[in-house]
Amino acid sequence: AVQFHPEVHHTPKGAKLYENFVRLAGFSGDWTMDAYREQAIAAIRAQVGDKKVICALSGGVDSSVTAILIHEAIGDQLTCVFVDHGLLRLGEAEQVVAMFRDNYNLNLIHADESELFLGKLEGVSDPETKRKIIGGLFIDVFQKYANGIEGAEFLAQGTLYPDVIESVSFSGGPSVTIKSHHNVGGLPAKMGLKLVEPLRELFKDEVRALGRELGLPASFIGRHPFPGPGLAIRCPGEITTEKLDILRQADAVYIDQIRKHGLYDEIWQAFAAILPMKTVGVMGDGRTYDFAVALRAVTSVDGMTADTYPFTHDFLGETMTRIINEVKGVNRVFYDITSKPPGTIELE
Ligand code: XMP
Repeated sequence: AVQFHPEVHHTPKGAKLYENFVRLAGFSGDWTMDAYREQAIAAIRAQVGDKKVICALSGGVDSSVTAILIHEAIGDQLTCVFVDHGLLRLGEAEQVVAMFRDNYNLNLIHADESELFLGKLEGVSDPETKRKIIGGLFIDVFQKYANGIEGAEFLAQGTLYPDVIESVSFSGGPSVTIKSHHNVGGLPAKMGLKLVEPLRELFKDEVRALGRELGLPASFIGRHPFPGPGLAIRCPGEITTEKLDILRQADAVYIDQIRKHGLYDEIWQAFAAILPMKTVGVMGDGRTYDFAVALRAVTSVDGMTADTYPFTHDFLGETMTRIINEVKGVNRVFYDITSKPPGTIELE
C-alpha cells in the first residue's frame, strides 16, 4: 500500500513505480489503450445486446469519448442528444454537431432549446436559482427527446474512476456544497434506464488517450473544462442576449490570444466573464459607457484548488487592446487574480 497517489501526473516517477511493481510481481505489463478499447467494445456489446442506448452529449471529452466508443460497439443502436441551452461559446454548437455528424456519422439530435432556457432565465440573477433552472430544464429537455426514441433501455454516461471512488472528483470536490453542480445523475432512476459506463475504470488522462485512439482531434481532447451551466455562470447578474453576445466574442478573442502565444496547454482553464456593470471610457474623441469584461486563467490539478496563471503584462495589455478594438460594447478589461480558495474558478 502507498499513502500517496503514484498515478497522478504530479508525482515524480509515479509511473516508474508502477512499472517496477508490475515487473517484480512477475507480470508482463503489456496493457495498452488499444487492448482496453477492444475489451470495452466487447463488454458494451455483451451488456447491451440488440437494445438501444441514449447518451447526453455535451461536447466535453468524457461524453464525447463515451459516445464514440459506444458507437463503435453498437453503431446505429446509439442515439446522442446534444442539448443546446443557448449558453455555449462562439460557434460551439455548430462545431460539435459537425464533428459528430461528419466524422463519426452517429445518430445525433441537436436539441436547440436556447429560447426555452433563456426565456426561463430572464430576469433571474441569483446564482443558485440560475443553476437550478438550468439543471431542471436540462433533465426535462433530455427526457423529452429521449422519450421519442422508442425502445431505449440504456443510458450512457461518462463516469470516470475518480467519480467512482469519490476521492477526487474531477469537477466537483468541496465546491459541490458551495454550488449545486449540473449533472444528469438523477436521470437513470427517473427514466427507468440501465446505465452503460464504459469509462468507469479510467482516469482523465486515460480517457484522453482513449480519445486519441478513437481518432478524436488533439485540439478537441486537450480542451479546457467547460461547466454544464455554460456561460450562465460567467455572466453574473441578469443574463441577456446582448451580454451573451459580447461575452462570446470577448472569450473567443481571449482564447485566440492564449493559443497564439502557445499558452493554452499550460493553463487548466481560461475564459472571459462579463461583469454586471457599465463604466465610462473614452474612444477617439467620444465618451463610451460600456460593459466590463473579466479575464480568468488558472492552473490546477483537479479543479479543487487553483492558482492564477501569471501572464506577462505585455500579454495582458495586448489582449485588452484586442478585446476593446474587436468587441463592440466593451470598454474595460480586468484580470482576475483570485486563487481558489478564496475564490472559485467560475464566477458563480
Ligand atoms: P468552481 O467554480 O466550483 O469550479 O471552482 C471547479 C471546476 O468545476 C467546473 N464547474 C462545473 N462543471 N458542472 C460542471 O460540469 C457544473 O455545474 C460546474 N460548475 C463548475 C468549473 O468550470 C471548474 O473546472
